[in-house]
Amino acid sequence: MSHLQCLTMATALILLQALSTVSSTILSRADRITRLPGQPRVGFQQYSGYVTIDDKKQRALFYYLAEAETKPISKPLVLWLNGGPGCSSLGVGAFSENGPFRPKGSVLVRNLHSWNQEANMLYLETPVGVGFSYATESSSYEGVNDKITAKDNLVFLQKWFLKFPQYLNRSLFITGESYAGHYVPQLAQLMIQYNKKHNLFNLKGIAIGNPVMEFATDFNSRAEYFWSHGLISDPTYKMFTSYCNYSRYVSEYYRGSVSSMCTKVMSQVSIETSRFVDKYDVTLDVCIPAVLSQSKVVNPQPQQVGETVDVCVEDETVNYLNRRDVQKALHARLVGTRKWTVCSNVLDYEVLDVEVPTINIVGSLVKAGVPVLVYSGDQDSVIPLTGSRTLVKRLAEELGLRTTVPYRVWFAGQQVGGWTQVYGNTLAFATVRGAAHEVPFSQPARALVLFKAFLGGRPLPEDF
Ligand SMILES: *[C@@H]1O[C@H](CO)[C@@H](O)[C@H](O)[C@H]1NC(C)=O
Ligand SMILES: *[C@@H]1O[C@H](CO)[C@@H](O)[C@H](O)[C@H]1NC(C)=O
Repeated sequence: MSHLQCLTMATALILLQALSTVSSTILSRADRITRLPGQPRVGFQQYSGYVTIDDKKQRALFYYLAEAETKPISKPLVLWLNGGPGCSSLGVGAFSENGPFRPKGSVLVRNLHSWNQEANMLYLETPVGVGFSYATESSSYEGVNDKITAKDNLVFLQKWFLKFPQYLNRSLFITGESYAGHYVPQLAQLMIQYNKKHNLFNLKGIAIGNPVMEFATDFNSRAEYFWSHGLISDPTYKMFTSYCNYSRYVSEYYRGSVSSMCTKVMSQVSIETSRFVDKYDVTLDVCIPAVLSQSKVVNPQPQQVGETVDVCVEDETVNYLNRRDVQKALHARLVGTRKWTVCSNVLDYEVLDVEVPTINIVGSLVKAGVPVLVYSGDQDSVIPLTGSRTLVKRLAEELGLRTTVPYRVWFAGQQVGGWTQVYGNTLAFATVRGAAHEVPFSQPARALVLFKAFLGGRPLPEDF
């Protein structure tokens, strides 16, 4: 790259920063949240609203920013993305996992392990059709795929920086879980490509939790997980690993032609695993009202006394985000739909994209020097730790990275928070003990320790 180009870029960035400060303080001020209904008093700022990513077709993405509790200017910017595809980072990420509040009845209660203790947290509802994000033409919801989503997310960030120039060139991390194992690496890759021409994104690392990175390995680890946790019998395990494995079933399912063999195997698997066990955390009880609302059982079990995790938080969130006063406070609109839902029912995503591997993209990020953390809630049977661990180890071997931190326990407080292994300087794997698919939901304290170490570029605590 020539000096001239470098100079032009730097000047452009500074100019943009200077020019936009005046006008965009006003822009971002319109998005400032005075106070969310039922919210306790806090000392940090919150913003939410829309960024139009395509003026012609009127497609707009909704974001929620919870600035850091203390010294936001000296803390990094962290983008959080939930998966699905089609599920909301606002409802799941912010209000059930690592945001500052969780809805409880008509009020919000503080999350004592909110990630905005360490960073400015930006939650994005993506792609259009998810949560409060919308397109005015419903055709925009059809055929949405990974490529479109990654591009839209990139454009979102570029335009978001115009509203929030104080975050230009801030250390930026991208985090997320589940199907965000596609979104996060794909967005990071686009940023790196974009940076070659216009150095805009100060990308410092990515962290993905229980991520889909390679379809067959991830999905087929489910059988052994079910079996070893006692959710299926020996004969069913045998069928589930020989006659029809899970990747084959999903593959057939999304092509609309499930074989009779797979139908038989999957029906036996479902009977044995029971719908009264949460597949996203096999040790967690289910939210009885939510399960029963879809069933004919009329005698709901009372909630267990002494429960520390609110397994009904999803219902609480749906109620909260559908309140008019809450939507007004958030500057949110419902366009073309009458209800905010956790996962979109208008988006028609290209489901076969689930089969596109992203582990190779993760590899290219590591090669480009971007630190990567893959972490796994170890009670999740949907994307089990064993698949992720296998994929990371295989990647490390391919890249010729040697182990710098051998497989060992890590600590959160005086207890084991999970296990970890680090390869080279940039590729890390960690489990979170007792955690669900949504790690910060069921193990918020351990998740915060993990997050802090990740931001600091440090291995997880070796002792206490
Ligand atoms: C952006 O931040 C990096 C450090 O993270 C610094 O080296 C660089 O000079 C900054 N660029 C601009 C244009 O401020
Ligand atoms: C899953 O099933 C497919 C199709 O029968 C097969 O090609 C693949 O090897 C199986 N994978 C595993 C891990 O058993």
